Amino acid sequence: MLARKVAEPCTIVVFGVTGDLARRKLLPALFNLARDGHLPQSFAIVGFSRREWTDEKLREEMGAAIREHSRSEPDSERETEDFLSRIYYAKGELDKTESFLNLKARLEEIEKTDRLPGNRLFYLATAPEFFAPATELMKAAKIIHPVSSAGPWARLIIEKPFGHDLESARQLNTQVRGAFNESQIYRIDHYLGKETTQNILAFRFANSIFEPLWNSRYIEQVQITVAESLGMEGRRGQYYDTAGALRDMVQNHLFQVLCLIAMEAPASLDAESLRDEKVRLLRAIRPMTPQEVASCTVRGQYGPGSLNGAPVKGYREEELVDPDSTTETYAALRLAVRNWRWRGVPFFIRTGKRLPKRASEVAVIFRHPPHQVFEDLSVEEARQNVLVIRIQPDEGISLSFEAKRPGLKMNLQNVKMDFRYGRSFGTPAPEAYERLLLDGLIGDASLFTRADEVDRAWEIISAIHAGWSEAPLPDFPNYAAGTWGPEEANRLMHDVDTGWRRL
Ligand code: BG6
Repeated sequence: MLARKVAEPCTIVVFGVTGDLARRKLLPALFNLARDGHLPQSFAIVGFSRREWTDEKLREEMGAAIREHSRSEPDSERETEDFLSRIYYAKGELDKTESFLNLKARLEEIEKTDRLPGNRLFYLATAPEFFAPATELMKAAKIIHPVSSAGPWARLIIEKPFGHDLESARQLNTQVRGAFNESQIYRIDHYLGKETTQNILAFRFANSIFEPLWNSRYIEQVQITVAESLGMEGRRGQYYDTAGALRDMVQNHLFQVLCLIAMEAPASLDAESLRDEKVRLLRAIRPMTPQEVASCTVRGQYGPGSLNGAPVKGYREEELVDPDSTTETYAALRLAVRNWRWRGVPFFIRTGKRLPKRASEVAVIFRHPPHQVFEDLSVEEARQNVLVIRIQPDEGISLSFEAKRPGLKMNLQNVKMDFRYGRSFGTPAPEAYERLLLDGLIGDASLFTRADEVDRAWEIISAIHAGWSEAPLPDFPNYAAGTWGPEEANRLMHDVDTGWRRL
């Protein structure tokens, strides 16, 4: 991670600029960066899409998006107008050579009139089927500068999903690497841009008190939960029904969090050292056999239920979802990390849609003391120390421990030390996309995933899919919307007393 935080003059090309991601996240994030002084004096944003829009129309739409979605109210109209005046529109099709030749001409013209040096950041915020053709056409149109220390740079940020399975991810990697050098490719996982996720690194490696305890001698189990109360809003069902929880959340976000929690300390925070350690960790997770898939994974799909007192539809009734869908909206896994540090420590991970609330956390559950000195308490009755990293909402970290309740008897009570972002820092954290866009602009790939990392994550996920395809289909729907997922997930915890944490 680099300390330098102002980008060089450049052109940012957003493919899929009329889509939801650009409107809700990317343009508001770029606006926040510009307002906070992280963008250079001169820059241009070129939006590419097939709609019949013009520069004026794009500026109007993005103006509305910024007013609605940027972190705080723009300070002045002038600030917004200045930002919008740097936005241009390029109409084109993502699979047509001619569109890319037009884009090339447009880029050269803008770079000339705006006196930009030609540095280019391409952002693929399109449907995944266009990732490969678009990069091939970028190469064919010669809009990608080769890697060189002297000339202008070109980089590519590519959205998820990066592949559908191991084979398609490998193919996509080969295709994209046919156009860009690996050092120019920034595969985004927005969980890595979250403050609380980055803070896992600070917490583990900038403090000396936790690391000596961070192993199987002291830690009994780790639980990682990413719970969402959302279902299939808008047109979401269309994509989600082809993906499911394992591809949509586990392969990327949950595995990234797992890596940060369990990896060894990198020699430094530069992109290669950090990613080397993450890959090493993923290599310590062996892809499961079908028997292991049967005993160590649980999938679920929500049926009708209620959330916050209001009735909600079941997954199969959602818009654009197959009424006989067998897609999982919940997944829970029990993983073993086969290395010296973690021998015998189960890592439980779970994620699901339409759970009772939005809550993501990592809970590190410590072992009981080896001997119980409190007479009236069996070892099992004493509560364990639990360190909870709350990723969102209510961002913070708490550590629970036993304390003597005031009184004449030796009675114990579980109490907490609690760090809250809001209370300690007082300022709102930047959005994940701000951080990641800025890193892409300054050329820091630490918080992006490397090809070998994506590959290994897919190896683990594809083995689970293979196991699922051999096993009888669960009786979907198997949990009601607004509940904590299928009962069956409890069987993954057969040998631990805690059960899944209640959030
Ligand atoms: C996306 C998934 O990557 O992450 C969505 O495709 C999910 O299904 C979202 O809702 C969750 O992100 P966040 O930042 O709201 O936790």
